[in-house]
Amino acid sequence: MASKVTERGPAARRPFLLELYGSALGKKYVMAITGIVWMGYVLAHMIGNLKLYQGADYINEYAEFLRQDLMSPIIAQGATLWLLRSVLIVALVLHVVAAYQLTVMNKKARPESYRSRRDFVAADFASRTMRWTGVIVLLFILFHVADITLGWANPDPDGSVFDRTVASFQNPASAGFYLLANLALGFHLYHGSWSLFQSMGWNNPRFNHWRRAFAIAFAVIVVVPNLSFPIAVQLGIIS
Ligand code: HEM
Repeated sequence: MASKVTERGPAARRPFLLELYGSALGKKYVMAITGIVWMGYVLAHMIGNLKLYQGADYINEYAEFLRQDLMSPIIAQGATLWLLRSVLIVALVLHVVAAYQLTVMNKKARPESYRSRRDFVAADFASRTMRWTGVIVLLFILFHVADITLGWANPDPDGSVFDRTVASFQNPASAGFYLLANLALGFHLYHGSWSLFQSMGWNNPRFNHWRRAFAIAFAVIVVVPNLSFPIAVQLGIIS
């Protein structure tokens, strides 16, 4: 293909990564890589949250360790948490922006007549589900940080991490939102961890049943314990 000619001569090439990001493939890479970052986080976070079952002292001490001593003295006290937070925030922003831009791109160039009706319906259902579950999870993260980390939306804002978590889950509306959001997260993780293989080009048909098994197992392992926490507080098992 002939390159575009401008008044200054042939169009200057953008840096490789920007050029790649301009394509749908580049945006899919960004979604897959940032998705993997958050998959790692939600798995580690769920494992940490299991300390709720061990009792207040365990989870409070663990939260203090994350805040102050993670990677110390290799990295200055308290700095690792901010490093991790920065990676998570950047990954979340990139994930949401790439998702939005891909949706716009797909809408503009939707070759409906080339697709079979069955594929079209399946793909459309999956992407619509991803959009809705994504929006719910995003709103959840904002609420959750305001609720437990910052205490702004919490009935016991000055309590310990354990107290704030229990206070939040004792409120049926808040517990219900945690359940809804974690179910949405389950669908999002299932479809996301299935399609990230496709996006990264790791999709040999011989491995498809492993991909599906991995996607289901990952979603279940993260979400089932997460669902159990608000339920355990409502039932008085954690108090
Ligand atoms: C029922 C399930 C969950 C429980 C019991 C829970 C519990 C907690 C607790 C106790 C904290 C505060 C830690 C601290 O301040 O030291 C926290 C922070 C956080 N949680 Fe969760 N969480 C749950 C689900 C999730 C999910 C599904 C996500 C993401 C999709 C998430 C993302 C975060 C984030 C981003 C923070 C802020 C971390 C920071 O302070 O830098 N949580 N969570």
